[in-house]
Amino acid sequence: MITSLRETAVAAFCNHFNADPAFVARAPGRVNLIGEHTDYNDGFVLPLAIDRATWIALRPRADQTVWVHSLNLEETAVFSLDQFDHAADWSEYLRGMAWALQEAGYALSGWEGMLISDVPIGAGLSSSAALEMAVARAFQAASGWEWAPARMAQVCRRADNVWVGIQSGIMDQMISASGQAGAALLIDCRTLATQPALLPPATAVVILDTNTRRGLVDSAYNERRAQCAAAAAFFGVPALRDVDLAHFGARAADLDPLTRRRARHVITENARTLEAVVAMRRGDAAALGALMDASHASLRDDFDVSSAALNAIVACARRQPACYGARMTGAGFGGCAVALVDAAAVDAFSAAVDPCYRAATGQAPTLYACRPAAGATVEAFGLSC
Ligand code: GLA
Repeated sequence: MITSLRETAVAAFCNHFNADPAFVARAPGRVNLIGEHTDYNDGFVLPLAIDRATWIALRPRADQTVWVHSLNLEETAVFSLDQFDHAADWSEYLRGMAWALQEAGYALSGWEGMLISDVPIGAGLSSSAALEMAVARAFQAASGWEWAPARMAQVCRRADNVWVGIQSGIMDQMISASGQAGAALLIDCRTLATQPALLPPATAVVILDTNTRRGLVDSAYNERRAQCAAAAAFFGVPALRDVDLAHFGARAADLDPLTRRRARHVITENARTLEAVVAMRRGDAAALGALMDASHASLRDDFDVSSAALNAIVACARRQPACYGARMTGAGFGGCAVALVDAAAVDAFSAAVDPCYRAATGQAPTLYACRPAAGATVEAFGLSC
């Protein structure tokens, strides 16, 4: 019998407290179909929430203590909402969320819970956004205020940027908060407006984990952000979102070559992302796949955030007749690629990509088809232990 993570969290809660949890909170990881390194340029992204998530079975406490046990790590985090500091472990994300919610004016109550996740850590599938958003849902359920997904995404981003000290855009938090079952979501990262976009009929999204992890992602990410900001300043606009292809073409020759390539990626990627939504509306898998291929080339050649392993797995994917298109996904330098595949041929596709990637790199990949899932949820728990 396969036990779901939800059941595992609930059973662990029942065992430990000998009582029912009052709520079960859940928040998903994500994979981005297209629109990479555009979010911090006020641009467009097209991610989907995946059917891998962080789950928390919890009940409110009468005091201001937060007590959370991670079933993945077999470690317990405890802190008081009245006074807490930074920690050098995973509870930093919980503390960051508590800090950012309090700073945004939310009144918080204490709670205790059992936490479990199947979003792989460091793979580029937003395990930290899933953790933070599940914690936000737990605070909301325990404290009783209204859930507003886009607002929560902003608060969560502040937790990342200010408390945890990780620079990121708003994509990961937005999709974990606002994802829609069965659809990808076009997000305008300036206005936070969202529009669902259905996958073309008879296609599946396959995540291709290179199983490589890169340590220098943070510094390279910050460097790219600074280069984009410099390019926006050159064009005299608040963000590269405000530069279209014609404007770019007219003035690009005056930019230094490196900044020009960085800007070209962002400007063409925004255009590709909007075209991808049009292709999805037409149900045009071939057009969407071609845009994904072009996105990879731009990330590899102009933005320079791909890696040998990512290029190898993308090449292996594209070699398969069932593949419409493939690209690296997330920040880059390692982690995962994403492929759009004929839904009837996912097994054959995976069976062929695996040995191809092993032969190219000497390393085993992890491949899984995923279904677009709903954003963060909380349910009042009704059954007894
Ligand atoms: C990371 C960041 C996101 C986004 C992507 C690149 O995942 O957390 O905000 O910038 O990289 O698209």
